[in-house]
Amino acid sequence: MMVFAFKPNGKPPMGWTDKLLTGIHEIDQQHQVLFDVVARLEQAVTAEEKWSAVHFALVELSSFVSIHFTVEEALMRLHGYPDLDSHIAAHSVFAADLAEIKQHSIRQDVSTEMTTMLKNWLVSHIGVVDKAYVPHLLAAAIVNTPRS
Ligand code: FEO
Repeated sequence: MMVFAFKPNGKPPMGWTDKLLTGIHEIDQQHQVLFDVVARLEQAVTAEEKWSAVHFALVELSSFVSIHFTVEEALMRLHGYPDLDSHIAAHSVFAADLAEIKQHSIRQDVSTEMTTMLKNWLVSHIGVVDKAYVPHLLAAAIVNTPRS
């Protein structure tokens, strides 16, 4: 079975800004992959590619989002992050919106407003909600690092 390689393609994804870096390498790589996939989706929509190309990009985005949310929630849970529940709730709302757009793409065209909404959510969520856990996770990781 193929395992997703969470590696950005080497150059900054479209729309990415280093202001979104968390300083946690694995998370930053995953966020950049999400931006890569959203850029592919935007390209498919604006170029009016076949519905299947748009749908596949949404399937790919859903898969990466699911993996990323699982990893992030596990990290927060592992380190006792106090706002875990509200963070999970935010993830759930986005995952539901994404699932709805994916279903919509089977029957009707996906609009640029929909892709913009997905991109804006990512920017806002990473920039505010994700960044909120960074001090806690970094402090917890330092505390939990075994002494050599
Ligand atoms: Fe990086 Fe909370 O998603």
